[in-house]
Amino acid sequence: MKRWIKWTAGSALLLGVIVVATAASGLYLAEQKRNRYIDIKPRPVAYTTDAQTIERGRYLYASRGCTDCHGAQGTGREFVNDGKGTRLAGPNITPAGVVARYQPEDWNSVIRHGVKPNGRPVLVMPSEDYNRFTNDDLNALVSYVRQFPAKEGTPAVIELPHPAWVLYGLGAIPDAASRIDHQLAPLRPTPAGVTLANGQYVANMCIGCHGANLSGGKIPGGPPDWPAAADIRPGTHSADSALARYPNAASFVAMLRTGKRPDGTPIQVMPFESLGQLSDVDAQALYLYLNAPPGSVKQDVGSTAPSGQKSSANTLPSGPGGLKLPG
Ligand code: HEC
Ligand code: HEC
Repeated sequence: MKRWIKWTAGSALLLGVIVVATAASGLYLAEQKRNRYIDIKPRPVAYTTDAQTIERGRYLYASRGCTDCHGAQGTGREFVNDGKGTRLAGPNITPAGVVARYQPEDWNSVIRHGVKPNGRPVLVMPSEDYNRFTNDDLNALVSYVRQFPAKEGTPAVIELPHPAWVLYGLGAIPDAASRIDHQLAPLRPTPAGVTLANGQYVANMCIGCHGANLSGGKIPGGPPDWPAAADIRPGTHSADSALARYPNAASFVAMLRTGKRPDGTPIQVMPFESLGQLSDVDAQALYLYLNAPPGSVKQDVGSTAPSGQKSSANTLPSGPGGLKLPG
């Protein structure tokens, strides 16, 4: 008996040591990971002040999530504060903020690749949603952001509980830069319209939460009380899936506009401030895409390039040993 107690105490102690050691090495790895240098050479963005382009940029900023995390005027905004150790805020991106000394290639690096001008990864911003932006759309978006009046605002806030940092360090919560294929060429322009191609293009903004193939599940790094994101893989939903609640485009578009299911219950976590701004054409194209018959579309939104080719068009060709992505 005595021996048994000793043995139990011993293994509990050992287990404790293992837990502490894993946590400590996780925290250490997290520090390494967030300070890693990601060597990409993105193309410069073309700035413009042409009214039509700025209007397209305004639409993208309002409908693709930027407003939710950076505010309508770009001055930054707290977008998660669960009172239990998770507090997140997007920084001021007016000319008075973090982008004050941005060069044309820095915008491409942050928005499409999740890499800050100093080569460090963004931790929370979902740049994987934006990697597939066409060059025209990226130019438009950046040109719009650049004309925000310089204003005082909020700096970035990234406060996560210790377990989240450990998981980040151990690779269970990937940052955007490690999810992105940095060599993929940007998409060719997709004509606006209620088409599968346009729907797939818009659906890129869902992958940060619903996953690269839209299969849903727990959102990595989200607070523990967030519900899992729904499985919205195109063409695979059965009668009991979330998408089956939306028998036609009108009911789906109404959900995007109101944040509510057809039965009136509110949907959690989804960034409806932005989703509600999707144009009718884009929202209907999205519905068409999510309901495409199985096999008619490639599932992996995030890495699908209809133009087919892999090239260095997204980044400038880099020298020997150019792309280093530790971890
Ligand atoms: C889910 C919230 C979220 C969304 C959506 C989002 N951002 Fe961010 N953004 C952040 C956070 C948080 C940071 C701070 C960097 C980090 O994540 O570690 C940031 C950083 C930035 C930076 C500065 C990076 C630096 O430190 O130099 C720019 C520029 C930026 N975002 C632009 C955009 C634009 C444009 C969009 C829309 C296409 C967008 N963001 C969408 C949260 C978000
Ligand atoms: C910030 C994370 C986030 C983003 C971005 C996001 N979703 Fe969701 N989505 C969720 C979560 C979490 C749920 C589950 C919500 C719940 O159960 O209350 C969900 C649920 C859904 C549902 C099921 C609704 C229902 O009736 O229960 C649909 C459909 C959906 N999302 C579509 C989309 C589409 C399309 C996009 C992109 C245009 C998108 N989501 C972007 C997090 C997100």
